[in-house]
Amino acid sequence: MIKIGRVTVSLERREAYLDDRLLQVGSRAFDILELLIQARGKTVTKDEILRHVWPNSVVEENNIHVQLSALRKILGDDKDAIRTISGRGYRLTTQVEGDEPVALSGAVQDGPTRQIGPAGQPGTARRTGVPVCHAPLIGRDSAMAEITRALNGTPIVTLLGPGGIGKTQLGIAVTRSIAAESDREVCFVTLAAVDHAQGVVSALAEALGVERADGDVALSSLVAAVQGRTLLVMLDNCEHVIESAATVCELLVQASADLRILATSREPLRTRDEKFYWVAPLDTPDAEASPQAILASSSVRFFLAQMRAVNADVETDPGSLEMVATICRRLDGVPLALELAAARAAVFGIRKTVTELDDRFQFLTGGRRTAPPRQQTLEASLDWSYQLLSSTERIVLHRLGIFPARFSLEAACAVAACERLSPNEVTEAIVGLASKCVVMTTFDSRTKEYFLLETTREYALRKLYESDESDEVLTRNAAYLARVEEQPYGRRFRAATGGNTLAAESVASR
Ligand SMILES: Nc1ncnc2c1ncn2[C@@H]1O[C@H](COP(=O)(O)OP(=O)(O)O)[C@@H](O)[C@H]1O
Ligand SMILES: [Mg+2]
Repeated sequence: MIKIGRVTVSLERREAYLDDRLLQVGSRAFDILELLIQARGKTVTKDEILRHVWPNSVVEENNIHVQLSALRKILGDDKDAIRTISGRGYRLTTQVEGDEPVALSGAVQDGPTRQIGPAGQPGTARRTGVPVCHAPLIGRDSAMAEITRALNGTPIVTLLGPGGIGKTQLGIAVTRSIAAESDREVCFVTLAAVDHAQGVVSALAEALGVERADGDVALSSLVAAVQGRTLLVMLDNCEHVIESAATVCELLVQASADLRILATSREPLRTRDEKFYWVAPLDTPDAEASPQAILASSSVRFFLAQMRAVNADVETDPGSLEMVATICRRLDGVPLALELAAARAAVFGIRKTVTELDDRFQFLTGGRRTAPPRQQTLEASLDWSYQLLSSTERIVLHRLGIFPARFSLEAACAVAACERLSPNEVTEAIVGLASKCVVMTTFDSRTKEYFLLETTREYALRKLYESDESDEVLTRNAAYLARVEEQPYGRRFRAATGGNTLAAESVASR
């Protein structure tokens, strides 16, 4: 039980009493009270309240005022315990007496994982360096369940996907939820700043508390450090040191049966005991979606939450919602791109943001100052992947930019192979690009097909036009199209280039 002045609150039973009298607290008001208690005297912003109390809908801010005045009324003489922090939010000013409130980790508040028990119980294990996420994770409930399940049975689970798709965020949420639900010790290690093989060992050693004498840590000390520990290590950002990350991970899990590794990477580690989980984009509304369906889609919820986070006015009339849906669709539901777009929309408005999408690399800059450089602009995020490609993969990627819709391996070879690059080399490059999550694959037709996210495609096309190859690629594409005009690809190409794409213009002008 928690006491605020004369009022006693049970978060577990969701009840409040004045002396012995049960108070009538509405469920929204109780949600707010719970949030304030859990903040332990820190300010809770209006945005946090909106996200916590109305997670699936867009509501006016004055709903908060209504609930707060109801709460203050209930608190009676103790109403001043809730202080308004002008322009920001609210906080509890009186000392909360009673049991430690349940810790709420923002990142996992959507999931069923909000418990931290007493010593020796689930949730009391040591957490080293796992970042706290203050914003709720959107649209990832089933992903979290699936990854957690995979970690039960497999020593290494790798979250794969292009930059900005949400691998780190999802990994952190899973890690925090496992820490809260079991007695597994968890530890977060980022390899983002590591640029050489030994750096992987050093980063792990530091996180695992391995003493190092002067010089480098021996791999055997790491092995000794994990043995006998029921431990989950989240190893973030492996792609640029993939080989050493793979070697170290394999060695560690072979040495300790209780060790689990949750890696994030734009490319699989390809170790012996590994399962992959491809992190999907947030779902986007169809072109004909109703306003309700638009509001229900994860990408739209994420975009609107991002706009609210910077206190932007969010219009939710059908016209505005349709524009938001277009933004989410054209940015493929990729959270990083949506985050950058929401920041721009907050300044320039939604309408201008839609029109600037054709020029997304110029427009989608200005990410969070505190984000790593590769996440500050859309272009930087793609540059990071691009620099990890082989030179053949780069050339093939430029050429694949010509495809506005799904394409087969046959189409890719017809357009990307030339005297200097055999179909076999093109195939191998596509396999490499797909495993690095630069080219996406689909299995929903009988033959495997490939596609580029719109942002990747714009990036590839720009590179194609910067090279002196665009004419020959367009010629090969036109010849291929003439051959397959009535086949699915030909039809899809025509449908997809009905809009104003670089490829369509150039193809049409021949
Ligand atoms: N499901 C989600 N809900 C809320 N925010 C998200 C979600 N996925 C990603 N984000 C945010 O989007 C940005 C990019 O996500 P991140 O996890 O860093 O991507 P990645 O690791 O794949 O490059 C981050 O600011 C992150 O907080
Ligand atoms: Mg990441």
